[in-house]
Amino acid sequence: MDYIHIPVMVKEVCEVLNVSEGGLFVDCTLGPGGHSEAILEATPLTNILGIDRDSSAIEIAKNRLKKFGSRVTILNCNFKEIDFWKPYLKEEPKGILLDLGLSSLQLQEGRGFSFKDEKSLDMRMDTSKGIKALEFLKNSKEQELSEILNKYGEVENPHKIAKAIKSALKEERIKSAKDLSQVVEEVISSKRDSKHPATKIFQAIRIFINEELKGLDKFIKDAVSILQKSGRIVVISYHSLEDRIVKNSFRELKKGCTCPPQFPYCICGNEPIVSFASKTPLRPDMNEVLTNPSSRSARLRYAIRK
Ligand SMILES: C[S@@+](CC[C@H](N)C(=O)[O-])C[C@H]1O[C@@H](n2cnc3c(N)ncnc32)[C@H](O)[C@@H]1O
Repeated sequence: MDYIHIPVMVKEVCEVLNVSEGGLFVDCTLGPGGHSEAILEATPLTNILGIDRDSSAIEIAKNRLKKFGSRVTILNCNFKEIDFWKPYLKEEPKGILLDLGLSSLQLQEGRGFSFKDEKSLDMRMDTSKGIKALEFLKNSKEQELSEILNKYGEVENPHKIAKAIKSALKEERIKSAKDLSQVVEEVISSKRDSKHPATKIFQAIRIFINEELKGLDKFIKDAVSILQKSGRIVVISYHSLEDRIVKNSFRELKKGCTCPPQFPYCICGNEPIVSFASKTPLRPDMNEVLTNPSSRSARLRYAIRK
């Protein structure tokens, strides 16, 4: 293996999911299989259904987890396609894990996710579907691009950046992720001790290309409903847009009632589906951040099925 992806908050994930008691766990974001391996190693009583939309990740995870034999089932699909993967469950799952974001494998593979990538500007997690980031940038109108940068990157001055990107594309100056990050750097100067100036631009384009936020709230609610009693869902997110969706979905599951707040009493009759939902996210400790800087923005929230 010529890549390293260190699973984030792996101790917390295993503790929150109570993996030592065994059971079936669905790893919706299998990646290279780091969390799944830890869950399977915790006790011989655990089984995994592992899902990823990225076929390269699937190949690596299959190889890594083959030592666990029939305790592992691996599917190459979008986790939001719950009706597709549900029939593969051999029992009600005890836990569901979502470790959102990118794996180091994706950042290192020359697929246009990294600022340094000179090979491409693709950014698709599933390379069999959708359009590449470069195609999207070429086809989009300046206004549309600016709205996407604003919506999915909460970028300051999105118009200015969209304009610079469109004009660089016209001059055929953008062919790779590195070219794009250089164009952004010409517009936004980097502040000392802060993230790369193109971080939010890349985030916005990646979220749009992969429809990362679309249907995430519905998925969380549907996923909780298939958990066994007292089963747990754990979601690790890496930016505030995602974390907000997780927090709000959990809050609604805990509240149950969907009546507008101005109603004097409940008429929907919806009961809470979870007995607990974290209000404050768990964060990686200092030691983890020092040894694995990619974990620094991780926020872990979980909920417990009633
Ligand atoms: C941060 S990585 C997971 C790393 C893994 N937990 C580990 O420790 O090895 C996130 C993975 O989720 C996958 N992914 C993201 N959104 C997905 C979706 N909607 N359906 C399936 N896989 C998805 C990505 O392709 C990526 O491989």
